[in-house]
Amino acid sequence: MKDVTISDSIVYIGADDKTIDLFESQYVVPNGVSYNSYLILDDKIAIMDTVDPRATEEWFANLEKALDGKTPDYLIVSHMEPDHAGNIQAVAEKYPEMKIVGNAKTFPMMAQFFDMDLSDRKVVVKEGETLELGNHALQFFMAPLVHWPEVMVAYEQSEKILFSADGFGKFGALDTEEDWACEARRYYFNIVGKYGAQVQALLKKASGLDIQMICPLHGPILKENLGYYIGLYDTWSSYKPESEGIFIAYASIHGNTAKAAKKLKEILEAKGAPKVSIADLARDDMAEAIEDAFRYDRVVCCCATYDGGMFPCMEDFLAHLKAKNYQKRKMGFMENGSWGPVAAKKMKAVVETMKDITIVDPVVTIRSTMNDANIQTMEELADALLA
Ligand SMILES: Cc1cc2nc3c(=O)[nH]c(=O)nc-3n(C[C@H](O)[C@H](O)[C@H](O)COP(=O)(O)O)c2cc1C
Ligand SMILES: [Fe+2]
Ligand SMILES: [Fe+2]
Repeated sequence: MKDVTISDSIVYIGADDKTIDLFESQYVVPNGVSYNSYLILDDKIAIMDTVDPRATEEWFANLEKALDGKTPDYLIVSHMEPDHAGNIQAVAEKYPEMKIVGNAKTFPMMAQFFDMDLSDRKVVVKEGETLELGNHALQFFMAPLVHWPEVMVAYEQSEKILFSADGFGKFGALDTEEDWACEARRYYFNIVGKYGAQVQALLKKASGLDIQMICPLHGPILKENLGYYIGLYDTWSSYKPESEGIFIAYASIHGNTAKAAKKLKEILEAKGAPKVSIADLARDDMAEAIEDAFRYDRVVCCCATYDGGMFPCMEDFLAHLKAKNYQKRKMGFMENGSWGPVAAKKMKAVVETMKDITIVDPVVTIRSTMNDANIQTMEELADALLA
């Protein structure tokens, strides 16, 4: 179990979920996911978000243990997505005196999810406002569209803790020993990636605060070296590549395009490419492929022609990139077709709708199986990618 101690008066009350098949019905989470929730104990007691309905029982047990017979005064709702908001009604009914703290956009959404009368229990906070708890005070900052419109973060002034909502979140249950960046990056680009400008706006607000600890809604509590995490978020949200290298994504039906993609990897490595990562879009985790496309500064898309178009997993990959606001990269193409290869033209048509993409020529066109002329063109493409 990772260290979830925060301080004498702030207690972790979240839960790990290691049995979920797909997070948000889309993302494989081999090491599970955590739904973080916190309790601040002071003259007034505040619960920082609830958890997914999948963890209701464990969360209520943790909450009751931490309360030790006391009753909470506030529930702070930083985000209405059900993985955090799932138990709002249950906890509101259990503690009828407790007030619910949100912003102007929180409550209309709450009424869509839950059937309860909160008219005399609502506390609506605005940008920069503070909620006094005693020695502790929570200051709220709106983080619209990181990654829902009602998201807000809270800065606890006495202990200098940022409760960052889904920001700085990571896949993986808390007892997982793994590199933070890999699963945080996959989380970021797939879930938040579209909203780089909004994350930049939030980072700007955060830069004015003295932050000693970050308590996100998923993944480990960040206590040290915060500049590292904030730096990565700055890189990611500004759509700058994080690493020099080439990501090769291939979509192959019978394996010939796959073989050519692997050959291109060999050629690039022989020419001294800094790093070459490769993925089989039909079989590997799509979210990981999206992550790698954002991580590196150059991408090569290799695709078999299928019914006069792209093989569907490539279409899907490019649609995901487009939806996540993919930009500022160099891209090359390789296509395959037995009678009328058009995959490169189709891929380019999608990529040309993205911002700041430099297309690297030449296109490699294979007609069924790669031949010497194709290898020659791959050499030229490799040189152009490394130039
Ligand atoms: C269902 C299906 C549809 C295809 N449609 C086209 C097509 O429209 N145009 C074309 O040139 N080749 C088409 N092909 C042929 C493949 O693109 C070609 O054989 C290619 O070499 C496959 O590469 P792979 O071995 O990487 O799958 C199709 C193949 C299949 C199985
Ligand atoms: Fe969320
Ligand atoms: Fe979440």
